Amino acid sequence: MRIPSGVSGFDHLIQGGFLPGRLYVLSGPPGSGKTTFTAQFVAEGLRNGENCLYITMHESRGELVDDMSSFEFGFETLAASEQFRFVNLANKKGKRLLNQFSQSGNPSSVQGLTDKVVAFVNSREIDRLVIDSTMLLELFFTDGEDEMARFLTALKSCDATTLLISEMTDPSAYSDEHFLAHGVVFFHNYLEATGMTRGIQVVKMRGTDIDCDIRSLRFTDEGLVVDPTKRVDF
Ligand SMILES: Nc1ncnc2c1ncn2[C@@H]1O[C@H](COP(=O)(O)OP(=O)(O)OP(=O)(O)O)[C@@H](O)[C@H]1O
Ligand SMILES: [Mg+2]
Repeated sequence: MRIPSGVSGFDHLIQGGFLPGRLYVLSGPPGSGKTTFTAQFVAEGLRNGENCLYITMHESRGELVDDMSSFEFGFETLAASEQFRFVNLANKKGKRLLNQFSQSGNPSSVQGLTDKVVAFVNSREIDRLVIDSTMLLELFFTDGEDEMARFLTALKSCDATTLLISEMTDPSAYSDEHFLAHGVVFFHNYLEATGMTRGIQVVKMRGTDIDCDIRSLRFTDEGLVVDPTKRVDF
């Protein structure tokens, strides 16, 4: 079984969709489409009646909905569903929400956060999980990479199909999450004389025969659209 991404054209690059229950890292520079991709992924799940959990530290629920409502993939209506759960870790309400699921540990510590997220996913039978992003998670992590590795290992073993956003400006600067994840997708943004050229590239996906070339990525009224036939050369 494959999990459709909700991004038109993208599934052609990965044999029809993501393998369920696995952890995928989305990396790329600012404004390259990472958050929009995850919103389309969640919208697709909600359309199919799945339970979705969105964990962020970047924005309020209202801001995410506002940003995504400029597209026509129906995020605003879908996100009003009971099956959509939103947690902003940057505020008290978000932390309280996570606390309902596990009292163990302090949510401001990695172990506490890890336990709570896994307990939430398991008790609410979350099918699709999004975490935006590693940069902000690092605020929770006092001893750096070891803690990130433990957090990622816990995410890998939970049942949800997970997209984790990881900021990256240098496409050759790999970090731990790229090695630990089951799959890695890079977003590319190239400023050219004629404007911005965008691309998307599946760098790895265990168990899947992938197209690793950089393919055209465009923002349209419908959201992000991949053209799997169009290779982008820079
Ligand atoms: N129709 C559109 N509606 C909204 N944003 C659009 C549209 N077309 C292009 N964009 C651009 O898409 C970018 C936002 O994309 P998104 O938030 O998905 O990127 P991101 O990779 O998550 O960025 P960041 O790393 O800053 O969080 C903005 O720079 C915005 O100008
Ligand atoms: Mg973003």
